[in-house]
Amino acid sequence: MSPFAVTRTLPADATAAALRSDVQRGLTATPKQLPPKWFYDARGSELFEEITRLPEYYPTRAEREILIDRATDIAAASSARTLVELGSGSSEKTRHLLDALTGLRTYAPVDVSESALTLAGRALLEERPGLTVHALVADFQHGLELPESPGPRLVAFLGGTLGNLLPAERAAFLGSVREFLSPGDALLLGTDLVKDEATLVAAYDDAAGVTAAFNKNVLSVLDRELGADFDPDAFDHVAVWDADHEWIEMRLRARTALTAKIPALDLAVTFAAGEELRTEISAKFRQETVRAELAAAGLSLRHWWTDAAGRFALSLAFPED
Ligand code: AVJ
Repeated sequence: MSPFAVTRTLPADATAAALRSDVQRGLTATPKQLPPKWFYDARGSELFEEITRLPEYYPTRAEREILIDRATDIAAASSARTLVELGSGSSEKTRHLLDALTGLRTYAPVDVSESALTLAGRALLEERPGLTVHALVADFQHGLELPESPGPRLVAFLGGTLGNLLPAERAAFLGSVREFLSPGDALLLGTDLVKDEATLVAAYDDAAGVTAAFNKNVLSVLDRELGADFDPDAFDHVAVWDADHEWIEMRLRARTALTAKIPALDLAVTFAAGEELRTEISAKFRQETVRAELAAAGLSLRHWWTDAAGRFALSLAFPED
């Protein structure tokens, strides 16, 4: 096999169809909501990269600190010959893992963005000529189907993206990961942790306004992809801590009463003044909740590593027999 292959398990038009049905459902619901995956067009991905460099947005730096400090432990505990990375994006932080996993033969990044996969995959191959890179264009929320690759396999789901899923979606996702794992395989999971409200809210409402631009960008995606006529500046960015659910919610709040047309759906959506559209939840975890959610999916938490300040955690879990 060629050292670089891309497999598409998403039909080319699946993304467009999913966007239409998510927008149709979410904007006719009460309260209005949209799934966060639609943030990430080219501009949104750029804005997210910018977020990761903001002084207020600690998760990326905290996770990188753990990966650097623990890469050798992760390699020893997993002995992985294949690394599967879900939602790999630019694969930037994966490098620390790749360097530590000395027995690694295959790297399988999985992402909905083919351009991100191709770019990251080719760059990696130049640095590590012995590695087989099998990129997969797939939506990790809709069943994992991976090509044959040598075990043991380490499945990495980093960045705290698990927190973007609602509890029932998390259970379904972890269950599908468990099904995909064989004895000896492992899951490496990144989760942001519960901490004081001021730190959390600042991370999602930065002084420079980058997160506000990232949030409003989803409206530009609807304008471009569905011919909608949202004015992103007609909305305010809102980030609130929901202490009961222990998650951050990002919302867009209509500054005035307004109606937006979405021609591709033959839909007109009205907002009352001050009405909010939920665009993201970002759940924060505790060791006990991570352990319990893993166990419910048949996964046993074996290692728990945090950064020195205790802000973020990496878990290593194995299928229970
Ligand atoms: C990439 C999903 C982990 O929830 O913290 C950053 C996305 N949203 N700022 C997160 C995000 C607002 C981020 N994840």
